[in-house]
Amino acid sequence: MSVDRIADEVLAAIRDRGTYRRLRVLEGAQAPRMQVDGRDVLLFAGSNYLDLAHHDGVVEASVRASREYGCAAAGSRLINGTTILHQALESELADFFGREAALTFNTGYMANVGVIPALVGEGDLLVSDALNHASIIDGGRLARAEVRVFAHGDLDALEALLAQSGAPDRRVLLVVDGLFSMDGDLAPVAEMAALAHRHGAIMMLDDAHGTGTLGARGRGSAEHLGALAEVDILMGTLGKSLGSFGAFVAGSAKLRDLLINTARSFIFSCALAPPQAAAARAALALVDAEPWRRFALQQRAARLRERLAQHGLSTSPSCSHIVPVVIGDNATTMEICEALLERGFYAQGIRHPSVPIGSARLRITPMATHAESEIDALADAIAEQTAKYAPETIVARREGGAGTGRP
Ligand SMILES: Cc1ncc(COP(=O)(O)O)c(C=O)c1O
Repeated sequence: MSVDRIADEVLAAIRDRGTYRRLRVLEGAQAPRMQVDGRDVLLFAGSNYLDLAHHDGVVEASVRASREYGCAAAGSRLINGTTILHQALESELADFFGREAALTFNTGYMANVGVIPALVGEGDLLVSDALNHASIIDGGRLARAEVRVFAHGDLDALEALLAQSGAPDRRVLLVVDGLFSMDGDLAPVAEMAALAHRHGAIMMLDDAHGTGTLGARGRGSAEHLGALAEVDILMGTLGKSLGSFGAFVAGSAKLRDLLINTARSFIFSCALAPPQAAAARAALALVDAEPWRRFALQQRAARLRERLAQHGLSTSPSCSHIVPVVIGDNATTMEICEALLERGFYAQGIRHPSVPIGSARLRITPMATHAESEIDALADAIAEQTAKYAPETIVARREGGAGTGRP
């Protein structure tokens, strides 16, 4: 069978399900105001939460590194790809999180598919939240470990699983997102870590979206919940709030050593480019130097949730800068997304498999540097667009003005 015939068959099925996707083209840097598909818009999609991706200091650091080290690492970290920039970034990340060591990966996806099989394999157990990110699911598949999934955030279900897990005689790894990327709610990290440890399991936190944005010092979801020291393995990304590219894992020196020697996505892949490592270092310093960014981000997000609630639109269960407005049906979600784009607001519609079937939504991500008037204008536009449909067809409207919680 030809490639095009396979593509026709698969894409026809995707179109029938209403989940066909296309790429939108952005012009200029990721910023609150930019051009998307040739139109001026306010950007409420993406993860440049702190607006560091084209911050002068971050850009300058990456330009300097390009001049000094060139644009490529040109090899695996174990062959020729570790520069002093990579080492400096890792030691700064370790200090930032109060850990013995850190190791960078090329993306968060690659970190998860590298770390999970490094810790559990055939005969072992991975325990995973039902709404965990796809890269955790794929890490479990690659590990060939037994995978047990518990209902989202359900501590009783988790405890029942851990009690029967066979730990501590068996290797058992609990992995959860810190801040859930499509719902904007937090895992009960302290309680989960306590359960994991009580039953002899290891606790790994994927804090892709909490890093830099949550916690009094920007150390993320676990810091915010008072549980930073309880997490055995902390994974985060450099390509979201840190305005660069890549990811890291922070933990013990022995964990780092284990990953260098066994994590296949680390061993068999070209390293982060030096300008990316330099940009991440500059951004990490800015998280400490400019705390106003995370405070402004959370203030904008709270304002958005409150204004949507005043319009009778739920953003439940969000308590953060990831603000979902669940529409329900795929076609309606994308119609509203396109109508908002025409009005100058880019808030991406998200459908299955990124979210469960029947819960398609607008995923709205404000930035620290949006003006309050821009937040209000977006909320008002969403209210006007959703009001064009029968109230019972919009899930967020059926649920009313819930979900105004603060992190
Ligand atoms: C929770 C979570 N983990 C991991 C990833 C993957 O990170 P990256 O985009 O760096 O591959 C993402 C994001 O996109 C995410 O939301």
